[in-house]
Amino acid sequence: MPIHFFDQTEAFFLKIKAINGFKDILPEEVPLWQHIEGVARDIFQRFGCHEIRLPILEKTELFARSIGEATDIVEKEMYTFVEMGITMRPEATASLLRAFIEHGLHVRQPVQRLYTIGPMFRHERPQKGRLRQFHQVDAEVIGAVEPEIDAELMAMGQMLLTELGLSASLEVNSLGCPGCRPEFRRRLVAYLQDRKAGLCEDCRRRSETNPLRVLDCKKAGCREVVEEAPSIQDALCPECRSHFDQVQSRLDLLGVSYSLNRFMVRGLDYYTRTTFEFVTGDLGAQAAIGAGGRYDGLIEQLGGPKLPGIGFAMGMERLVLLLQAANNRAERPGPAMDLFVAALGSRACLHGYRLVHGLRQRGLRAAMDYSGRSLKAQMKQAARQAARHTLILGDDELERQTAILRNMQTQEQLPFSLQADVGQECLQLIDIIHLDP
Ligand code: HAM
Repeated sequence: MPIHFFDQTEAFFLKIKAINGFKDILPEEVPLWQHIEGVARDIFQRFGCHEIRLPILEKTELFARSIGEATDIVEKEMYTFVEMGITMRPEATASLLRAFIEHGLHVRQPVQRLYTIGPMFRHERPQKGRLRQFHQVDAEVIGAVEPEIDAELMAMGQMLLTELGLSASLEVNSLGCPGCRPEFRRRLVAYLQDRKAGLCEDCRRRSETNPLRVLDCKKAGCREVVEEAPSIQDALCPECRSHFDQVQSRLDLLGVSYSLNRFMVRGLDYYTRTTFEFVTGDLGAQAAIGAGGRYDGLIEQLGGPKLPGIGFAMGMERLVLLLQAANNRAERPGPAMDLFVAALGSRACLHGYRLVHGLRQRGLRAAMDYSGRSLKAQMKQAARQAARHTLILGDDELERQTAILRNMQTQEQLPFSLQADVGQECLQLIDIIHLDP
């Protein structure tokens, strides 16, 4: 019996919509995205970062080993093809380090500064500023342990926000190292042990599996419990203490303002020492615009050399929302047309067709309409495409070898001599267009 994929009923004609949490970025929004990418690239390059492009699919084990088995991301948010053992990346750091190790990039240069831009995937509950496919600009510095680098990266993130015209608060913390954190963890577990009743269901579970995460739960009951909890700041070993003090003094030196948030622990397990977040009150529940930190043991843990690393990522959807909320700065017109050819009559249309192609070959943005609409309709279309000039051309004009060139801004109209050779005609038009304001 043949298999029917579609029932020939009404259902066949239902519109197919995008998956929940996956969003189209429409042409009118794209200039804003390109603007953000452009500013990010420019700033990252000022700090000596080079772009790296990475695959979207990786072996599941990569994320389990780096982000951590007991994190929300790995436990319940990854898009995994179970039988193939592969996962759509939920973040960029693990993939970037996998590539770094695989290609032995440290051999080329002891300190590598890299950045990447692209989509990430997490199966979270969608809401404003939280999607299942979202985009990050991500920067990482590998091979440097100095506190100057920590402060420099935060300054770079701050510069990105400032140059986009946004402001956010920078919160910093230190999560210590494998030397001092276990003792802090023990003290925290002991503290939480007697107070489980006051915690939310998730945190009751976390207090066993990932107790530090309880510290940054946003629920009121949990906040009350952790208010009196031991502070990681009091548990840092002398080396971590000194590193974090120097990070703060370097931030002061660079004029970057920040505040200490001793409850910040981050949702990924790979962090050591410095962690930071850029937060805003303008995005409802999704306060973090960007976040990052140091991961000094991670490269070795992934089978690479014993090298330290630090990085951060900004969520592009959140940057877009903030820029849109800041009104006119979000209005970035798409590229305008240099010339629109409004042709009337079949011969004029064919002439215009060749002319538009010739102009495009010579680097201009040119357009025309093929549907034989009235001059009025074509002029409207030229205005909609923000054309700087329109060449009005009918079969009669072709006969007389003179068309009309209209400057759409000044509305001035001048005769334009048509040439037998379209190439010549293009060059003449380009001259006039480039001379015009
Ligand atoms: P993260 O805190 O998981 O860190 O994500 C960084 C940023 O990505 C967040 O601050 C937020 O702006 C954005 N983001 C995260 N999830 C979503 C979502 N579902 N929808 C929209 N935006 C989202 C990391 O990913 C680390 N890899 C950062 C890092 C780089 N650490 C060291 N190097």
